[in-house]
This record gives sequence, C-alpha cells and structure tokens, in this order.
Amino acid sequence: MSRSERKIDHIHYALSTGQSRRTGLDELQFVHRSLPGSSVTDLSLSTEIGGLQWSSPIFVNAMTGGGGQATAEINTQLAEVAAACDIPMAVGSQMAALRHPEESATFKAARKANPNGLMLANIGSEATVDEAKAVCDMIEADYLQIHLNVIQELAMPEGDRDFKGALERIAAICEQVGVPVIVKETGFGIGFETAKQLNELPLAAIDTAGFGGTNFAAVENERSERPLSFFNSWGIPTAVSIVETSSGAPDQTVIASGGLQNAEDVVKSLVLGASAAGLSGFLLNILLTGGQEALVDHIQQIKTDMKMMMCALGAKSITDLHHSPLIIGGQTEQWLRVRGLK
Ligand code: FNR
Repeated sequence: MSRSERKIDHIHYALSTGQSRRTGLDELQFVHRSLPGSSVTDLSLSTEIGGLQWSSPIFVNAMTGGGGQATAEINTQLAEVAAACDIPMAVGSQMAALRHPEESATFKAARKANPNGLMLANIGSEATVDEAKAVCDMIEADYLQIHLNVIQELAMPEGDRDFKGALERIAAICEQVGVPVIVKETGFGIGFETAKQLNELPLAAIDTAGFGGTNFAAVENERSERPLSFFNSWGIPTAVSIVETSSGAPDQTVIASGGLQNAEDVVKSLVLGASAAGLSGFLLNILLTGGQEALVDHIQQIKTDMKMMMCALGAKSITDLHHSPLIIGGQTEQWLRVRGLK
C-alpha cells in the first residue's frame, strides 16, 4: 500500500471506528450560580499559549497532510475554515514530506489558504533538530507540535519498536528550533509521570490528547492481520489526563484534547485546568459529511455556547474558569482518588 493510500485509509478507519465518548467528561458537573454577576457581552474567550495571543481557546488539532490529492484538499479546506473562524490550526505529521519533498506542496497550500492565522507544524519525537527546523520553515510555523505516538507505532506491523532518547531529542529541539514547542499525545493521554518528565523542558504547552476520542489502536488493529486488541482500551481518559498533566507539570500550560466535540466538552476541560482545547476527528467528520460551511457553523456555535456557559458560571475569562468548582463522579473520581490527585 502506498503512503497516500495509507493516509486515506487512516481517515476512513478513524471516521468509521468513530469516537468512543469515553473521555470521562460526562462524569463532571458544573455548580450552578444564581447570582453570577456576569454578562454575555462582557467576557473574553482569549487565551495565551507560548507568548502568543489566541482569540479563542479552540483550535483544529493535527490531522492529515502529505500523501495524495485527497489529503491535500482536506488540509486546504481545514486551513480555510481555520482562517474563517480565526482559530489556530495544526497540520498533520510532516515527516514524510521531508523524505519526499514533493509532498511538502500540500502543507504549503494549507499555509497559503491561511496566510495570517496561527499555524502549528507537526513532527514525531524521532525528529532531529534540523528536521524540526525544516518542517517549521515549510509552513512558516508559529509553533511546533512534537507528537508522541508509542501505541500507534506498536500497533502498526511496520511501526517503530525503539523509543529511546525521545526526551533528549525534544529538549534539543526546544533549545534550537526558534518557535514555541508543544508536546502532544495522540489519543492515549499524558499521565503524571510523563508530565513530570516534560515539566523540566522549556515548552509552550503540553497537549494531553487523552483517551475517549479517535483511537489509533483501534484504527491500526482494524487494518492489521495480527491485531494487538489489548491496546484498544489502553490509555488515560481525557478528563483524567488534564488533571494528571496539570499535577505532574505545574510549571507548564496545559492544552486539552482527545474526543472533544462541543462547547460543554471544551468548558469542562478548561475548568479542569486547560488553557486551550484541540479538536480533530469530530471536526474532520463534519467537514467530510457536511462540508466547510457546516464546519464553520459548528465552530462558531462552540464559541457562542462557550460564552453562554461562562456567563452562567460567572467567569469573565478563561483564567476565571480555572477557579470554577466542578463535581467529579464515576470512574474519573475513582481514578483521581487512587492516584492521590484530588
Ligand atoms: C490524527 N492525529 C495526528 N496527530 C499528530 O500529532 N500528527 C498526525 O499526523 C496526526 N494524524 C491524524 C490523522 C487523523 C485522520 C486523525 C483523526 C487524527 C491525532 C490527533 O491530533 C488527536 O491527537 C487525536 O485524534 C485525538 O483527538 P480527537 O480526534 O479525538 O479529537
């Protein structure tokens, strides 16, 4: 199978295996306030990540790139939507485009479609400093995302089996790449121990990318003749992962992602301590089934609904949300209690 066929295959499997909605966010409840002292017209969705200002905390998180015409079109369409909604966008892994320079055109086209917006380059933790610089140059990136994807690699018959030296490579990239660096998971969640290791680095943020949304173990296992099905339910649910990351890396900014679909998911993630929230699979699904207009509508709706919820909670800013109370039940509460994180 060619690389471009594999990318399309990924998209189809990612969409058909769907999102499990096991993020744990439905086990959280806001505490209503009858005298919030707030007004919908007097609150701000803006947030700051790595010294740059975002007009709202939501963004299109890394998905596809490289490959053939179909993935190129998806990237350009996502970039146009990001520009229309004034939200940042991360492109998918650019590693293949370094090895096959003809593929860089699809990434450059995405930047062209979103010339003034914030764009995040994306590469794996196997990258060298020079590779990191090259992917940033390719899209004139405002940030670099470095993804951690141990489980997907292990689940892929042709995937990596050696994950030594990643932390040291990330540290070297942070020092030399020249743009703020975000380390992200890919749907299995950053835990306390990993966050503690990352806390030592000069990062712009850690993106938790928890379990409960797109599941790349399930995606790879669907395609594999020898599926590693024990990885299908492996991972740290999104709600828990935000708390684990905030506790393990108290000096870092936290970005929430993994199965986020709507404003309620986003606001709960922010109350748990995140400063921004990335959405991937759910947005891709809307784009491919409803088109760009439907996707713009959905993103604008999230922003409008966020303001309604912030008003009801008496929060004028994303920082205020961090101080809102939240009732935590079910397995999320149990997990946090067992880990001593409550
Ligand atoms: C991804 N994701 C991803 N992440 C990354 O860092 N580099 C990549 O190239 C890709 N590629 C990719 C392709 C497709 C089709 C999807 C759906 C996702 C992972 C993504 O950024 C995110 O971490 C997970 O999908 C979990 O978030 P959602 O999808 O549950 O919102």
